[in-house]
Amino acid sequence: MHVLDAAIADTRVLLGVGTLCYCLLVAYFTGQSRKLRHIPTTSPKAPLVSYLGAVRYVFSGKKFVEECLRKWPKSMFRAPDLVQWTVITTERDLVAELLRAPESTFSGRESNDELMQMKYTLGAPITANPYHFPIIRNKLRRSLPNLVPDIYEELILAFEKYLPVNDDWTPIKFADVIPKITCQASNRVLVGYPLCRDPDFMDLSVRFTFDIVTVAMILRSIPTFMRPLCNWLISSVPTQQRKAVKYIGPLIDARRKERELKGDDAQKPEDMITWLMDAATDEETTNEALSNRVLATFTHAIYYLASYPAYAQALREEVDMVVRNHGWSSLAIDSMVKVDSFIRESQRMNPLFNVGLSRLALKDYTFSDGTFIPRGTTVSANIHGPHFNDTTYENPSTFDPNRFIKRTQKDDSDSDSARARTTDITTTSNDFLAFGHGRHACPGRYFAASELKLLMAYVVAHYDLKFEKEGERPADWWIMASCLPNPKAEILFRKRSTE
Ligand SMILES: *[C@@H]1O[C@H](CO)[C@@H](O)[C@H](O)[C@H]1NC(C)=O
Repeated sequence: MHVLDAAIADTRVLLGVGTLCYCLLVAYFTGQSRKLRHIPTTSPKAPLVSYLGAVRYVFSGKKFVEECLRKWPKSMFRAPDLVQWTVITTERDLVAELLRAPESTFSGRESNDELMQMKYTLGAPITANPYHFPIIRNKLRRSLPNLVPDIYEELILAFEKYLPVNDDWTPIKFADVIPKITCQASNRVLVGYPLCRDPDFMDLSVRFTFDIVTVAMILRSIPTFMRPLCNWLISSVPTQQRKAVKYIGPLIDARRKERELKGDDAQKPEDMITWLMDAATDEETTNEALSNRVLATFTHAIYYLASYPAYAQALREEVDMVVRNHGWSSLAIDSMVKVDSFIRESQRMNPLFNVGLSRLALKDYTFSDGTFIPRGTTVSANIHGPHFNDTTYENPSTFDPNRFIKRTQKDDSDSDSARARTTDITTTSNDFLAFGHGRHACPGRYFAASELKLLMAYVVAHYDLKFEKEGERPADWWIMASCLPNPKAEILFRKRSTE
């Protein structure tokens, strides 16, 4: 067995080196460079050398984007994204034009399938029949009021288990702890109790997401025709899917049996498995990207909170008051306006990626600024543009936890309804793209928002927290265009002082 493992490891290394060389050739032959000659870039354009630019883009994508923007503040530019050029647009109205274009012109789905290498990682059926989307969009959203107490129950247990602190300041590497907590809470909604508390199942779900992203990234960097073979050699996804079935299979069998025996009287726990069973077949892995997103977003927000402990007080007062009136309920969560604004501001400043919302051009297209995009090109939005536009946002580089509350009050005299409408984390617009916007806006954002607010409320209600140095947020990590909250940072936690 070990010999076999070693052999596979060797094969992987060889394959890696082989592919890299191959890529250089492919980059040379694609001819894509020629078609995009009219779009500027600071990256080396010559064949072969351009691959070095790609490597550089992986490790300092943020700097690259900034550099291009300094040179061409208004126009589109292109970035070398592994084996192809991606065209990036920053200007608000051009981003809006991209997101508004019909699917037959700029396809978000095809771009996403390519990005996640869906055909190989999750399998063609998932993309061909995305029936889980309406479930997330409708069922999950409608059930939220009933689910909040369940999620809260799970949070209490998880926090007590993974963040056990007393009255002394205790350093905690938050990025290690929080995946477990959110995973347990999300799994309550996905697979229900008791499976959500099974530590092995949790490990599996945390790893699964990570592996899909890694495999997709490797596959994307090699030529199309080599992907099936490479996927077969390197991917651990099928093994994990088999493992997941071992956990979830019996659960589904049991429920199916109950349905057969009792018919309409059968108990139907309110969770994703039930909905998927109702909707179609027993596919279980659809929601992982969603929980991953919740994770990183929350960690970003907590880092702001730990950098400025003074903000916690205002949030805490709001949470205490709201919970006194409504308990830990869905209504309470809807009433947490300050918590909402805090998280939304954190998302504005640190969306999980600065270049994204990619679309694949299915036909030639000319943007209103005259930029010509040939068919087959991927066009992405630089979210930083709209999020830091000083026409829309006053002092855009300053973290202002109440930004989205003030805005509403200024905007509209009918402030109560306006507040409900505009300060909500889930509202997307051309000026706020953290959850995307338009046709492909994230369907899981209602669930994500509830969970985020619940987590934030729980933390301020139960803990004091700070970084060693006040006001200093640990530097984010950037991989290509993704912005990760610093995984090494330690936060000091203690039990909330009772005055
Ligand atoms: C900022 O927003 C305004 C209007 O909202 C728009 O006209 C302008 O082009 C934007 N600037 C950039 C750099 O996107």
